[in-house]
Amino acid sequence: MRFKCFATTVMGLEEYAARECKELIDVEVKPDIGKIIFEASQEQLIKLNLASRMLHKIFIMLARINVETLDDIYRCARNIDYSELIEPDQSFAVKAERHSKNYPFTSLDIASTVGRAIIESFRESQGRRLKVNLDQPDIEFYCLLRDSEFFMGLNTTGKSLHHRFYRVYHHRAALHPTIATGMIKIAGWNPSMSLLDPMCGGGTIPIEAGLMGLNVPVGLRRGELKISSLRFIDKELIEKLSRDLERSIKPGLELSILGTDASPKSIEGAKKNAEKAGLIDKLEFSVADIFKIREWLRHTFDHIIFNPPYGIRMGIRNIKEFYRRICRSLAQASPTSTLTVIVSKPTLFSRSLAEAGYDVRQRIEVMYGRIRATIISAAR
Ligand SMILES: C[S@@+](CC[C@H](N)C(=O)[O-])C[C@H]1O[C@@H](n2cnc3c(N)ncnc32)[C@H](O)[C@@H]1O
Repeated sequence: MRFKCFATTVMGLEEYAARECKELIDVEVKPDIGKIIFEASQEQLIKLNLASRMLHKIFIMLARINVETLDDIYRCARNIDYSELIEPDQSFAVKAERHSKNYPFTSLDIASTVGRAIIESFRESQGRRLKVNLDQPDIEFYCLLRDSEFFMGLNTTGKSLHHRFYRVYHHRAALHPTIATGMIKIAGWNPSMSLLDPMCGGGTIPIEAGLMGLNVPVGLRRGELKISSLRFIDKELIEKLSRDLERSIKPGLELSILGTDASPKSIEGAKKNAEKAGLIDKLEFSVADIFKIREWLRHTFDHIIFNPPYGIRMGIRNIKEFYRRICRSLAQASPTSTLTVIVSKPTLFSRSLAEAGYDVRQRIEVMYGRIRATIISAAR
């Protein structure tokens, strides 16, 4: 049996998420706004949950229609047969998002309307009233209304996959791991190349690159995946795929990845995260100031990938001068490296790059939580 599916990802990185999905499960994938759309077998759905680094939540698509009113949404949800998806003793919740200002109803209205439709549809077909549990539901339904397009899905992931298993130290400006993965892919890094993150904070970029290099399945490592509690999913298949993925890890691979930061506390935290990730022997971390990089850099790196502080919030008053000094220091110390950064002031950063002799090769706008940010990749 094949399922129609959609999966959410970082807005702006849909193409990269689609490419990853194709690589992992070899299906046709359509990038959409903040998500990708594809069809998958049960086996492929499990594999994506266990191994994807770019996806947040993976849904079985129950509906995709154009709607105008809350009644349209109700009718759509009411017509779905839930008997194969949820058992009478299981609880459920509905989460809803509305990305449109044209409607006189809220996301909460959508969630409660769909919740009512599910209860009524199930009672009609099964003669039982389903329980609602908003905090810890067995089954979670998700609704998304963007303009007039309404999506409804069954969450097969649970908590978003961007919550990684290794985050024992939480840096106050930690990068989303899915964005870090996107940056590594945009840079074109592969495990035979060297990588430096000179402002590594809690180590997200070096750790994501390390996990990618060794082929460590991040969903499998984290566990707590909803797919394991869906009753129509074959548990033995999950076990088998988990074993296959464990076998495809490359523990012997040597990597050349260095993370540095001016803050000793961050470096200590990055090491704790790397330890938890099982990468403490694979990655190097040390305290170092980016502005003194010429004094401490032992060799040039193929890739320098990092996210500089955003500005005032992190104590930087003259951001223009700060960017300028960063680009100048890196150009002098490691002139042949490709630079890939995420910044909230792309024009300013691009100007500093140009002054230091870099050509911008790619610019991709992403939504970083509620912040609009730009990933820039450049080389001299
Ligand atoms: C936005 S945070 C990086 C977060 C990191 N990518 C993560 O996921 O945890 C920016 C980092 O730049 C570091 N930083 C600021 N000035 C620096 C300097 N002169 N040299 C090196 N690191 C610096 C800060 O200590 C901070 O950890």
